[in-house]
Amino acid sequence: MKEKAELEERAKGRLTTRTVAMPGDTNPSGDIFGGWVVSQMDIAAGICAGQRAQSRVVTVALDGMSFIRPVKVGDILGVYTRVESVGRTSMNILVEAWVRRGRIGQREKVTEGMFKFVAIDETGRSTPIPKEEDLPDYVLHGFDE
Ligand SMILES: CC(C)(COP(=O)(O)OP(=O)(O)OC[C@H]1O[C@@H](n2cnc3c(N)ncnc32)[C@H](O)[C@@H]1OP(=O)(O)O)[C@@H](O)C(=O)NCCC(=O)NCCS
Repeated sequence: MKEKAELEERAKGRLTTRTVAMPGDTNPSGDIFGGWVVSQMDIAAGICAGQRAQSRVVTVALDGMSFIRPVKVGDILGVYTRVESVGRTSMNILVEAWVRRGRIGQREKVTEGMFKFVAIDETGRSTPIPKEEDLPDYVLHGFDE
């Protein structure tokens, strides 16, 4: 018989951030406010994009945001990120947010979307993204995380 973990759907990408949804993050109906979830996804995507670009980055577009299930107070929210494509100065980062219900319960995907970031220099102008072979190992292989 397969272990329970093997039967669970797998997230795409690398686990980039984890946090707990708190009562202060709720909307008037008591579920977690969608803007809070998007903010957590933007933070994680920014970490991923900043490491790929090895520079400051800014969000320029969000595509295909899909709120699949609500997030509840006490859920652990884990955000997974993956670089989907790289342009001259821009990158598309696939982002999935998953919860562990009430810290120890069922694991479910709650939100997904594609975040576009642009690498910028110290003056705020777009700047080229380095080639993959010029990146430090931790960016590609996730040592020390
Ligand atoms: C990101 C920014 C510096 C780009 O400036 P720009 O003058 O458009 O720069 P460029 O014309 O050189 O374009 C840079 C890249 O971004 C892409 N891009 C710029 N605006 C985009 C948009 N709205 N949607 C999708 N892609 C966009 C371009 O296609 C280009 O990609 P490539 O180099 O991979 O081919 C500028 O738009 C900016 O500062 N935006 C605000 C970002 C921000 O504050 N985000 C936080 C929101 S709270």
